[in-house]
Amino acid sequence: MTLFELVKVALDELYDEGKAQHGASLDDKIKAKISYLAGGYRGLTDSSRRAISYRDPATRFAYVMKYVATHGDYVVQTLEALRDVNGGKVFSAESARLSCVGGGPGSDVMGVLKYLSENKKEPVKKLTCYLLDGEQAWADTWTEIGDALQSPVSINVNFQPLDVTKPESWNSQKKFLLADLFTFSYFVSEVKAFDKGGVVGDFWDKIFTEASIGANFLYIDNGYKEFNEFFDSFWRGRKDVECLYEDDNQWTTPRGSEQSDELGEYKTKFGQSPKLKSMISTRILKKIK
Ligand SMILES: C[S@@+](CC[C@H](N)C(=O)[O-])C[C@H]1O[C@@H](n2cnc3c(N)ncnc32)[C@H](O)[C@@H]1O
Repeated sequence: MTLFELVKVALDELYDEGKAQHGASLDDKIKAKISYLAGGYRGLTDSSRRAISYRDPATRFAYVMKYVATHGDYVVQTLEALRDVNGGKVFSAESARLSCVGGGPGSDVMGVLKYLSENKKEPVKKLTCYLLDGEQAWADTWTEIGDALQSPVSINVNFQPLDVTKPESWNSQKKFLLADLFTFSYFVSEVKAFDKGGVVGDFWDKIFTEASIGANFLYIDNGYKEFNEFFDSFWRGRKDVECLYEDDNQWTTPRGSEQSDELGEYKTKFGQSPKLKSMISTRILKKIK
């Protein structure tokens, strides 16, 4: 299954959830939320802005339709880069753990599963995923993803509420720190404005300090100097984290195997296509001691 085919399955469910809440006004709500998100993402560098809310099912539908398959494909492309600098494989054991920070919408986990389905040399047979996100409403969307993907890998997806700006929500969480792979996809730009008193930096300090030796970290985000420098400030200068790959501000598109035509019905209904071109920055880091 392609990422766009998977997204279509999730969208059908989200549409039903939206209908139950908004009834006949759902389509107009979704159109308005597509604009709401685009406006929110244009203003990410404004430190006085309000946080973007994903609570409403119409907003979650808008997000999944516009961004999830494309972001998932960027995760696949970044994993391919990691595989190539890591001796031909990303993972080293049959059982692996994945922690997706800001991973509620499912792009990151879909990307990892897609990568595993395409890379038969990877030894992983069982994948335990932690989706860590401040918005609880995402919890239902992807917990049955393994069934939809018909993946040969056995998958266990756990949603864990976690707000990086509230240390009380992550201070006592331990399991997600055991991950072999952490993903931060379009997350750092979303929380940079809320780094009051250095709380966001404290969160990354915890991750880099407590992660297991050998763990990899994937950072993918909007290609802007402010976000690149903000993320880099968390790891550059650390002796226990090595950078395996970095790339700044590159125009990127999903691979040719991904066709957004799968979403034709919704593209017509909302007069909108998924985002298919983005300027992104990438970092692949490794915990080395
Ligand atoms: C732009 S989306 C990125 C989602 C996904 N990783 C991707 O690449 O498509 C940002 C995610 O961060 C979550 N988020 C925003 N602020 C947060 C916070 N303070 N703590 C934890 N999650 C937060 C949102 O609920 C949303 O799921």
